[in-house]
Amino acid sequence: MNPLGVSFCGSRLRNPTVLASGILGITFNQLKRAEDGGAGAVTTKSIGPEERVGNRNPTCVALQHGMLNAMGLPSPGYEAMDDEWRQLKKMKVPVFASIYGASVEDFRRVAAYVAEKKPALIELNVSCPNTAEHGQVFGFEPSVAASVVETVKEVSGRVPVSVKLTPNTYKIVAVARACEEAGADAICAINTVAGMAINIEARKPVLSFKKGGYSGPAIKPIAIRCVYDIYEAVKIPILGVGGVTTGRDAIEMMQAGATAVGIGSGVYYRGPNVFGLVAEEMRCWMHANGVASAKSLIGAAHD
Ligand SMILES: Cc1cc2nc3c(=O)[nH]c(=O)nc-3n(C[C@H](O)[C@H](O)[C@H](O)COP(=O)(O)O)c2cc1C
Repeated sequence: MNPLGVSFCGSRLRNPTVLASGILGITFNQLKRAEDGGAGAVTTKSIGPEERVGNRNPTCVALQHGMLNAMGLPSPGYEAMDDEWRQLKKMKVPVFASIYGASVEDFRRVAAYVAEKKPALIELNVSCPNTAEHGQVFGFEPSVAASVVETVKEVSGRVPVSVKLTPNTYKIVAVARACEEAGADAICAINTVAGMAINIEARKPVLSFKKGGYSGPAIKPIAIRCVYDIYEAVKIPILGVGGVTTGRDAIEMMQAGATAVGIGSGVYYRGPNVFGLVAEEMRCWMHANGVASAKSLIGAAHD
C-alpha cells in the first residue's frame, strides 16, 4: 500500500499534492512539468468564455513573505482548447479543469464544453467579479455561489464539481455550506487574499492593476483557519490551498481538514519539483511520528 495515496472525488492521487490553478498554465507541456515534479494531480489555469489578454505588466511581484499578482485571467478562451485537450489525455495524473465566467450563463457554457473533455474534476473559480451582478464576486454571497453550482451541475454529467472559494469575505463558511447544498462535490479553499503594494519612491502602486491577490507563506494561517472552519461545516472533501511550501505545511493543512493540498506559489519558491519534495517530507514526518497513512491526517486537529 502507498501510505501517501489519497482519493479525491473518485480520483486516486499518488500523494496529496495538487498543482494549484494559474501557476503553470493550461498546456500539456506546462502541466507535465508538475506531473514530472511529483504532483498527485494538476489543475489548469482558469479557462474562460472567450480570449482574454490579461492585465498589463507588471502583473506579479515577489514581496518579503509572499507574492502579489493581478494577472487578469489571461486565457485563450475555451473554444480554442480542442488540441490542448487531446494532448492532456496523455497526462498520467488526474487533471482538474478550472473554469471562470462573468455570468452564470458563461459558467454553464464553459462547463458544458469542458465536461465533454472528461477532466477528473471541474473547479469553479467563483473568486472573480460577476459583471452581470454589477461587479460583485460570485463567491461573496452564498446564494450567488450556489446558483453557479446548480447551473454547472445541470451540464457537468458525471464529472465532479468543486468550488474554489475566496477568503475575502466573512461569509466563506456560509458560502461553502450553500455550495454543498447546491450539489457541489468538493470545496477548494482558498484563492488569493486581496492585497496591494506601493513603490514609495515612485509614489505609485507596484502592479499596473494597482491591487492584486496575495499568496505564499504569509497566507498559510488564513488558509488553515478557513479549511478548519469549512471542515466543521460540510461533509464534502476539501482541497486546502494557501501558503504550502513544505511537507510540514501540507500535514498542517490536512490536519485542519484538507483531503488534498494545493501548491501554487511554492512552485516559485522551490521549483516544479516542489510536489515530490513535499511528498517526501510528508513521508519522513509520517514515518518519524508513527502515522501509517496520509488519509489518517485528515481533520486530525479537530476535537
Ligand atoms: C500567478 C498566479 C496566478 C493564479 N491564477 C489563478 C487562476 O487562474 N485561477 C484560480 O482559481 N486561482 C489562481 N491563482 C490562485 C492560486 O491557485 C492559489 O489559490 C493561491 O495562489 C494560494 O495558494 P499559494 O499560496 O500556494 O500560492 C493564481 C495564483 C497566482 C500566484
